[in-house]
Amino acid sequence: MPGLDLKPLKGDFGVEALGVDLSRPLDQTTRDRLRDAFGRHRILVIRGQTLSPAAHIDFSRSFGELEVHVLNEYHKAAHPEIFELSNIGPDGKPNAVHPDRGTLFWHTDASWQETPALATILYGEQVPLNGGHTMFADMIGAYEALAPAEQVRFSTFRVRHDLSISRLKAGYEMTEAQKKERPPVVQPLVRRHPPTGRNAIYLGSHGQEILGLPPLESLGLIERIMNHATEPRFIYEHVWQAGDLVMWDNRATVHRGTEYDTAAEPRVVRRTVIKGEPVIAA
Ligand SMILES: [Fe+2]
Repeated sequence: MPGLDLKPLKGDFGVEALGVDLSRPLDQTTRDRLRDAFGRHRILVIRGQTLSPAAHIDFSRSFGELEVHVLNEYHKAAHPEIFELSNIGPDGKPNAVHPDRGTLFWHTDASWQETPALATILYGEQVPLNGGHTMFADMIGAYEALAPAEQVRFSTFRVRHDLSISRLKAGYEMTEAQKKERPPVVQPLVRRHPPTGRNAIYLGSHGQEILGLPPLESLGLIERIMNHATEPRFIYEHVWQAGDLVMWDNRATVHRGTEYDTAAEPRVVRRTVIKGEPVIAA
């Protein structure tokens, strides 16, 4: 595609692609350049798009195979690969209910799966005028800023990730059947990011316990690591406009949504998730 231009968002963390129209099929060169830029920069932003669910799925497939989510209340019937988050009630107005309060906590998508989501691609159909931003923290930058002795120590740790606990903390209780389908998994605290060969801290709200540490020490260390990783110097905050597509690499970032007035402001976003690859410890 002529005119594809890549603009950095925050140092090497994040890039915006300009001159892309996703309503038309992308040529292979453009797909390759976008995939390469995404691999290097972890966040890819493309603004000003009018994206049908089918075009969203087609674009997403440039990056791999797509997931279907276990919490099926979010499915869009015709396209099971698309998960819609909306606060629009049956009367067409904002219903004052946040569709998923779990998204307000720092997390990396599907770290509770043995093979977690590689990437998430979110499209903003309707977005609030105030709030409803998405904040991203660079877990490669956060790892590389650690003292060398901590890098070595943290690389020996493994963490239990448990969706049922993080859902509970967000105010939801999973059914017994859902819990059975999604038992806790163990992930390394530091993982290798294959596209760059760099290491990233791998933690977030699904991570409940560092194995082998006394419970209080484990909780304290998880809190300290997350406080470090989410310092402003590691953060890119996306302020949405309708028509934005934002894609993030779950292997090397955490993210959270910010609050908005769910009674006054409509927010309808759609997402696809790219299936992951086995987690490689550092
Ligand atoms: Fe998420």
